[in-house]
Amino acid sequence: MKKILSTILALAACTTLLAQDFKITHGPWLCDLTSDGVTVVWTTSKPALSWVEVAEDDGRSFYAAEHERRYETVAGRKQAHKTLHSIRLKGLRPGTKYRYRIFSQEVREWKYNDKVYYGDIAASNVYSRQPFAFRTLPASGCDLSFVVLNDIHGRADCMAGLCRPIDFAQIDFVAFNGDMSNSTESPGQLYRDFIDASVGAFASETPILYNRGNHETRGVYADFLQEYFPKVGGCYYKLYMAGSVAVLMLDCGEDKPDSDIEYGGLGAYDAYREEEAAWLRETVASEEFRNASARIVLLHIPLGNGTWHGNIHLEELFLPILNDADIDVMLSGHTHRYSFRPANDEVRFPVLVNDNASLLRCDVGDGRITVRIYGPEGTVTHSHEFPLK
Ligand SMILES: [Fe+2]
Repeated sequence: MKKILSTILALAACTTLLAQDFKITHGPWLCDLTSDGVTVVWTTSKPALSWVEVAEDDGRSFYAAEHERRYETVAGRKQAHKTLHSIRLKGLRPGTKYRYRIFSQEVREWKYNDKVYYGDIAASNVYSRQPFAFRTLPASGCDLSFVVLNDIHGRADCMAGLCRPIDFAQIDFVAFNGDMSNSTESPGQLYRDFIDASVGAFASETPILYNRGNHETRGVYADFLQEYFPKVGGCYYKLYMAGSVAVLMLDCGEDKPDSDIEYGGLGAYDAYREEEAAWLRETVASEEFRNASARIVLLHIPLGNGTWHGNIHLEELFLPILNDADIDVMLSGHTHRYSFRPANDEVRFPVLVNDNASLLRCDVGDGRITVRIYGPEGTVTHSHEFPLK
């Protein structure tokens, strides 16, 4: 009897341990912010059915009312077999502050058919701290503030230091402009390199708009990067509109020829850039882009004076289109050195390159684009103003 009792107690203790083991492991981080939505991403220690409770910020306690639950669904079916959870909050109102809470319910057993046995629920804390909050992009107006980080190359501490002096409550989104890691080898590496540091500094409330550099294209896990930073439409390159301000994110591909030994036979960027150029031609001809009050381009590899194949190909394809598109400024990285080149006959818009140990802040308003570059000490090292036409 004693033996049976101790076995039962041991089993109960084991079950408790397993239940305790279920938790939110990384995040949440927000991405792909638009005027009508945002995507919430986080991970759990075991597969789970996950949802987000979201509500406009009416100033009342989050516990004042029940909130709508949003799930990740694929073709009408809620997802319950994943540890990486990604939920698009659609149909939001523009320029509106929302609060949200994430939930995951552990899937203990799911052996056949839809006999799913659930376990504990883990959730973000809204009891002893404020619920997470974010603001959708506006549908009108010409004011916007965003931060750009590039060429972090896995130096999470450097990135955290750059973010420390920034008041992210003033910032609409943070653009990653390429080379956040040297290569993408595993989920653990993504967390260590920059995701956890982003969550610690801003990303649960200030969304990330991810723009690839040439290093994001490398590594055994590189093809899964977009699962961590999903974009509606599924392309890395995308036009974001914040009111009448256009932010055009362009994907550079690799810098060397596709056949280079460094790419292990996997490079197919010439064809990719050609597809992207066709999209770019249509996008800059669209009414929303032509009517924009400001047009800012983010491209990891700066255009002008390119000597490597990737740079030259980008210039051949993109420059004729962008030169006729009234671009106000291009923000780039890649060289790891600050540089600024005013518009000239070859590149008819200014190109500003942020170095690999600085944070760039861009403010649009009062008829101009103001760009300030902050060094590691949080002091402004370079400042530029671009009057809007
Ligand atoms: Fe880089």
